[in-house]
Amino acid sequence: MTFDELKATAERCTSCSLSQRRTHVVFGEGNIHSPLVLVGEGPGDNEDKLGRPFVGRAGKLLDQAIEEAGLTRAQIYITNTVKCRAADWSSGKPVNRPPTDEETLACRQWLVPQLGLIQPKVILCIGAPSAKNLIRKNFKITQERGKYFPCEYAKTAIATLHPSYILRAMNMGGDGGYSLLVQDIAKAHEAAVRLSTPKVGATGQELAGAPDLPVC
Ligand code: URA
Ligand code: SF4
Repeated sequence: MTFDELKATAERCTSCSLSQRRTHVVFGEGNIHSPLVLVGEGPGDNEDKLGRPFVGRAGKLLDQAIEEAGLTRAQIYITNTVKCRAADWSSGKPVNRPPTDEETLACRQWLVPQLGLIQPKVILCIGAPSAKNLIRKNFKITQERGKYFPCEYAKTAIATLHPSYILRAMNMGGDGGYSLLVQDIAKAHEAAVRLSTPKVGATGQELAGAPDLPVC
């Protein structure tokens, strides 16, 4: 299946109950040849309305961090753990919630082949649900963010704080971890560049350049 065929098929998906209230399936966007892919949690209200990832308040903060890390959004590919908005509708109006394990598992039928077609060097997991899905089930975001981990779908994966979490933390004063987000994006990008420009005859360890970068 080509990337466009995969996207078109995903856009008709009814595999989990999130399909019932969605406006758009938010498949992802950006450069499918990028060595760096960002994987968030899932679409919110704005993303559901527009069909694009990270376009609301959290998205604006992420854009700012991407630029501060020396990148542009068009350079990279951005997608999510689940492609439809997860919300609690029990009060009558939707309140965003993390995707359940069942929804995450159902949506892997799109995320896994999507990553398989892009073949990124580095995956940056944005927030805990993404890290738990792609790195390790019991991933501890506050303790383990910013470090390289082996990953089945890329040469390495790193996780960082979610911009929605940072926005909430900022309300309590300080930068809420924003500088860590910028730092982690820059680190992930550097690793992606390093891993995509092999030196002729270099060994795996030399290629990695940094002792803490696993080359799988
Ligand atoms: N939060 C996410 O995790 N993904 C989006 O696309 C938007 C907000
Ligand atoms: Fe399908 Fe994923 Fe949407 Fe569930 S969240 S309906 S699995 S596309």
